[in-house]
Amino acid sequence: MLSKELERARAWEAQADIPPAERPLFHLTPTVGWLNDPNGFSVYKGAYHLFYQYNPYSVHWGPTHWGHCISNDLLRWERLPAALAPDTDYDRAGCFSGTAAETPDGRQVLMYTGVRKELLPDGSERELETQCVAIGDGVDYEKYLSNPVITGRNLPDGGSTWDFRDPKLWREGDVWYAAVANRTEDGSGAILLYASPDLERWEYLRTLDRSENRWGRMWECPDLFQLDGETVLLVSPQELENPDGRFRKGHEVLCILGDWDGKEKRFTRKSIQPVDQGLDFYAPQTVLTPDGRRVLIAWMQAWGASELVPEGQRWFGQMTLPRELRVRDGKLLQVPVRELEAYRSTGRSWAAVSLEGRMELPGVFGRTLDLSLRLRPQKGEAFSRFTLELAKDERRATRLDYEPEQNRLTLDRSRSGFPAGAADRRSVSVADRGGELELRVILDRYSVEVFVNGGEQVLSATLYTPQEAEGISFEVRGRALMDLEHHTLNTDDRRPF
Ligand code: FRU
Repeated sequence: MLSKELERARAWEAQADIPPAERPLFHLTPTVGWLNDPNGFSVYKGAYHLFYQYNPYSVHWGPTHWGHCISNDLLRWERLPAALAPDTDYDRAGCFSGTAAETPDGRQVLMYTGVRKELLPDGSERELETQCVAIGDGVDYEKYLSNPVITGRNLPDGGSTWDFRDPKLWREGDVWYAAVANRTEDGSGAILLYASPDLERWEYLRTLDRSENRWGRMWECPDLFQLDGETVLLVSPQELENPDGRFRKGHEVLCILGDWDGKEKRFTRKSIQPVDQGLDFYAPQTVLTPDGRRVLIAWMQAWGASELVPEGQRWFGQMTLPRELRVRDGKLLQVPVRELEAYRSTGRSWAAVSLEGRMELPGVFGRTLDLSLRLRPQKGEAFSRFTLELAKDERRATRLDYEPEQNRLTLDRSRSGFPAGAADRRSVSVADRGGELELRVILDRYSVEVFVNGGEQVLSATLYTPQEAEGISFEVRGRALMDLEHHTLNTDDRRPF
């Protein structure tokens, strides 16, 4: 039985008519209204499922539902009706983030955080967060009668009942496990591990890792998986102070590599690195594809700029491109999913273009494109700066500057259509390769994602530059050589979004 809140949300989104041309081509946006974190990224009955934090009624964060879509190739998403609405006592203030899995009898289980308001003795209100379960057939879901299934009673001493969310659910043998983010007695984040025989009775096992006030305050949205012989824990801290300059202050995402004792379920941290060094990236989740790839998707947005909604736009919030992950020599590598190559419509390549001053290349322009370039010094000559300008007209451009002597790469979107208030520049250190640099740049109407040196680093940012600004230029101080491959990305708009 559908609740009246879910029926209302489904009726509302069914009449949404945002034309595809007003959206990105490949980057998922909400059916209508607001989108934040990816939820329940999984494979079920032969299709990829992706849910998302969703307020259909406004382009601002609000009562969180779960939006829902499916795909065969991770790029073209078919919209399904909203899966969850805040319609029950324990989740009236929101169905927060969570994950999905398949039950042994072939149903789909969603585990999420139910939020309600709690009245304190002094008359003020506080949020109470508990973990809840809903079971369904891939379209409709029933919330468990025994919800909430993990509450403050299952917390270790000192754990916060209001910062307790975002369960990552998985199954091993006959046991269900859930890794849940919590704020502990020292005021900072930790990831707690629970186990259950039946999704209803949960027991706290241990703490997998914790911030200890060094790696941010509250931690959100854990993911945990094995990859290339390593165990990877992803967490999204709030209020990170950027301990060693490689990270972003505030909301950030950490990739923690560790050793995993599978029997004891113990995680021992070895190293921490950033995942994305651009301006818009948070709350990632991963899925294991049927052919064994670990693919990540994230909310391509910074919380700090999430109130800056372009006038007249009826959606807000988009996902990153799905990215294939690898770990090599302790380093996380990310590249766009290979499925993207099927959407390249026209292409051209140039070898050893001699760059001097500023130049444009014939046919190299556009706002939906896949551009790969390899830059290197001319024999015996150094260059001091390389500048790539994208989404460009007379007044605007999104800019990448590479300064080989400093091994510095800067993404600058200060002329990319934003009102004042959004962070607009980020400089990062890149590997010293004697002036060589490889970039793969994906543009999709309202965003740019830059994959550096085979995916060793990624910089993602949203853009609001008008679509007519589609120029691209290359500029060098000194002289350099460049190999370039340019593809326009295209889709058949008759296929469902
Ligand atoms: C992360 C987050 C989650 C929470 C959700 C609420 O962006 O704050 O911790 O579940 O968003 O929408």
